[in-house]
Amino acid sequence: MGTDKDTKINLFDTYKNKQEILIRRCTLDDLDGVIDVNERELPEDYPYFFYKSILDDYPESFLVAQNKNGKIVGYVMWRVEKAPSFDGLKYENKGHLVSIAVSEDYRRKGIAFELLSNSMSAIKKYRIKNYVLEVRVSNYSAIKLYEKFNFKTKGIKKNYYRDGENAYFMVREVK
Ligand SMILES: CC(C)(COP(=O)(O)OP(=O)(O)OC[C@H]1O[C@@H](n2cnc3c(N)ncnc32)[C@H](O)[C@@H]1OP(=O)(O)O)[C@@H](O)C(=O)NCCC(=O)NCCS
Repeated sequence: MGTDKDTKINLFDTYKNKQEILIRRCTLDDLDGVIDVNERELPEDYPYFFYKSILDDYPESFLVAQNKNGKIVGYVMWRVEKAPSFDGLKYENKGHLVSIAVSEDYRRKGIAFELLSNSMSAIKKYRIKNYVLEVRVSNYSAIKLYEKFNFKTKGIKKNYYRDGENAYFMVREVK
C-alpha cells in the first residue's frame, strides 16, 4: 500500500457546482462501494474476486472518486493484456479499460474525465503500446467521453454483450 501522497491523486471542486470530489487510488475497503456503483450504473457486473484481482494486479490505475462524506461515486479500472499487435507481427502489451462508471447524481461534473486521465497515465508504466476498450454502440455519453480522449473506433465486435448488443472496439495509441 502506498503512502498518503501516492494514493491521494487529486482533490478538485467539480467545475459545475462546486462539490468537492477526491480522486484517489482504490483500497480493499472501497470495493463494496465500487461494486455498488457498478451494479447501479452498468448492466455488466462481476464477482467480488474479479475486482479484488484487478486491485491486486493493477492498483495504480484502479481509482475511485469519493464525495465529501466519503461515499464512492465513481471508479475506473484497467488491466494489461498481451495481445498481437494490430499488424499481427508481434505481441505487445495493451492497456484494456475494464470498467468506468460515475453515479448518476454526479455526472457531467468532470469526474470521469479526471478518473480517465489519471488512470491512463498510471497504466502507461506497464509499457503498453495502446489503450483499448469496448463500448456499447448505444452508449452515446461514453463514446463522447472516449472521443474526447482521442480514442478512435477500430471495429465492431458483434454480440459482444450478454444481451446481444454490439460493441465498438476503440483504440488510442500511447505516445
Ligand atoms: C460515461 C460516464 C462514465 C461519464 O461520466 P461523467 O463523469 O458524467 O463524465 P464527465 O463529466 O467527466 O464528461 C467528460 C466528457 O465526456 C463526454 N460526456 C459525458 N457525458 C455525456 C453526455 N451525457 N452527453 C454527451 N457527452 C458526454 C463529454 O465529452 C464530456 O466533456 P464535456 O463535459 O466537456 O462536454 C457516465 O455517464 C456513466 O457512468 N455512465 C454509465 C456507465 C457507463 O456507461 N460506463 C462506460 C461503459 S463503456
